[in-house]
Order: sequence, then structure tokens, then C-alpha cells
Amino acid sequence: MSNAPVDNSRRRFLTAATSVVGGAGVVAAAVPFIASWNPSTRAKSAGAPVEVDITKIEPGQLIRVEWRSKPVWIVYRTPKMLEQISSISEDNLKDANSTADQQPEYARNAYRSKKEEIFVAVGICTHLGCSPSYLSDGYQEIVEGQDSGFYCPCHGSKFDMAGRVFSGVPAGANLQVPPHYFVNDTTILIGEDGGAA
Ligand code: FES
Repeated sequence: MSNAPVDNSRRRFLTAATSVVGGAGVVAAAVPFIASWNPSTRAKSAGAPVEVDITKIEPGQLIRVEWRSKPVWIVYRTPKMLEQISSISEDNLKDANSTADQQPEYARNAYRSKKEEIFVAVGICTHLGCSPSYLSDGYQEIVEGQDSGFYCPCHGSKFDMAGRVFSGVPAGANLQVPPHYFVNDTTILIGEDGGAA
């Protein structure tokens, strides 16, 4: 990520308090700028679901947690972000309608999410596995007409705020949406489907 043409001050990450469901205890990470979660070895190998408290997330912010050794993002999208997702021409996207198997059925919709404003995705580029940067301001320099999105510094792949990959870049698929559901209004469980929740 260090090669990204990014003003780091623009990126805002929120420290998240997370816990392992069914695990022996709760581990809260408090790393400035980038939240991280350190599950027990047993939980890691079991691929335990991760419960995330989103009480403190603010519009435009991104929380990063770890699930099955992968970074998972939770982004609180603003009304403008949602508007810009809708404004992108399908011709500019490789899989505008999420036809590929990159999300559960409940996220195969316009915003690729259960709730319009809350986007959950695996933060791994679908080209060769680098970690894209979240640009919450100034994405216009990368994609005209878009204030925010995800940019992979390794080979320049670009994704919109629904994780849809733009045309003309090396990545061939949209960002993956992991199984997840809302335990309640302020808690998401990553790693399990929850029916209609
Ligand atoms: S790994 Fe992201 S563009 Fe190649």
C-alpha cells in the first residue's frame, strides 16, 4: 500500500472492538488508524465468526477486522456514496450486476449489501491479492465522477464503493462479500449467514 498515490491523512480508519463468538474471551484491538483483531490460534484455525460492534462508526468511515486470516472491511456509506454507486454506467464496470459468485445471494443487489449504507467486503484485490486502499476523498483523480472508492496500488485496479471492479484494469472480479448478518442494529457477525437478518 505504500506505493499508492494516496494522501494518508485522507483515509480514516476506526478502531473496532471485536470478539470471537463462542470463544474463550473478548480481545479488543486498539491500534491507531487501522483496526486489527487478534483471535486465538484455536479460533483462527476454526475460522470462527467475528462479531463486530459498529456503534462508533461514522458516515464515510471504514472498520477493518480479521476473519479467517483475511482483512474484512465494514464501511458506513454516505447518501452521496450510494448516489455515486448508482450513477456509474454499466459499461464502465466488468460485472455491474454481480453475476459472478463473489457474494452471498442476499448481497446480489444494487449496493451489494444487506443494508444500503453498510458495506462488508473482503479487503483483498481479486487480481493477485494485494490490499486495496480506501480513498474516502479525492478518488476523482482515479475515477472521474467518483469521490470515493478502492484503489489497488500493485497494478492499478479500481473498485467502486460497492466493490465492483471498473473496466480496463487487471482485476477481473468484484471484491468478495463474506457471509454476514446483523445480530442487532449495532452488531454484525462476519462469517455466518443469518437468514433475513
Ligand atoms: S493485485 Fe491488485 S491490481 Fe494486481
